[in-house]
Amino acid sequence: MMFTASRLSEMVNRHIEELTFTRYPEGLYNPVTYVLSMGGKRLRPVLMLMAYNLYREQVEDIWGPVTGIEVYHNYTLLHDDVMDHADLRRGKPTVHKVWNENTAILSGDAMLVLAYRYMAQCPAFCQKEVLDLFSLTALEICEGQQLDMEFEQRKDVTEDEYVEMIRLKTSVLLACALKIGAMLGGASVGDSDALYDFGMNMGVAFQLQDDWLDVYGDPAVFGKNIGGDILCNKKTYLLIKAFERADEARKARLEAWLDAVSYTPEEKIAAVTALYDQLGVKELCRQKIEEYIRRAQDCLALVSVPVEKKRELENLLNELMYRKA
Ligand code: IPE
Ligand code: IPE
Ligand code: MG
Ligand code: MG
Ligand code: MG
Repeated sequence: MMFTASRLSEMVNRHIEELTFTRYPEGLYNPVTYVLSMGGKRLRPVLMLMAYNLYREQVEDIWGPVTGIEVYHNYTLLHDDVMDHADLRRGKPTVHKVWNENTAILSGDAMLVLAYRYMAQCPAFCQKEVLDLFSLTALEICEGQQLDMEFEQRKDVTEDEYVEMIRLKTSVLLACALKIGAMLGGASVGDSDALYDFGMNMGVAFQLQDDWLDVYGDPAVFGKNIGGDILCNKKTYLLIKAFERADEARKARLEAWLDAVSYTPEEKIAAVTALYDQLGVKELCRQKIEEYIRRAQDCLALVSVPVEKKRELENLLNELMYRKA
């Protein structure tokens, strides 16, 4: 039996709601409960279950790794929000705002360890492979986050460098979720690699869309403040393309905003967004998203299960392209 993505996401939500973290001291675990109760799309656990479900139906056998990947993702958000000075996530104040930065660091650390524990609760036949892939992925995400921070200080980041950075900070986790699901399902190496590549391309489209929403999204739906990337001088696709397309005068204005020290957040966001609009980079970003969606579709085509079984993943990919949250 094939589960729909929405059925799997209900199951994931229910499972995560039922988790309890009751060890002492409460101050360490309350933020864990807080962030996990804020919801989110639960994309990574759903992808893991969907990949598994291409081969097997006993989804209840893999709750360990399914929970582990979502706890891990939420840990990265705690630390990412400190690094990005972000005050809002999923429509609620971030952990470092409700508590403080030290709490976000330490509860985040605890979540990373909890994630490993959950991940290790997987069928013995592939436990080593699963943990090896998860560890490599976690290391790559640190590498991507480091590049993301280093790029804030640079003005000459290229499109290739940007794609490599988002591949590391975002795509590898989607790819890892799918590959672990496939491995747990007993897929062939060819299939699990094709699903990994599918996730990698989907992840690039997903982060391009995230960067797009950071400028053009509706904060009430997106759940994060708009313009955060502009305020941090993040080297997004929009900014890189704006630099490429700008004449000398506009380039000078962009650079002046990157160097500016005294301004209100609203005026910097408005000015940089106006330059993006004049330079038409919004549309370029959409085209790039579509390019990566097509690449993902090509990878999915290589997975050797009947087309009907892959339809749910194909639909999810297309939905993500138009996501608003
Ligand atoms: C946010 O991930 C971090 C990125 C990689 C852009 P999601 O957009 O999946 O966040 P939630 O879990 O749905 O809130
Ligand atoms: C997310 O990138 C990458 C990780 C959390 C590892 P962003 O910094 O763009 O994610 P959001 O926009 O804060 O969710
Ligand atoms: Mg970030
Ligand atoms: Mg962030
Ligand atoms: Mg973002």
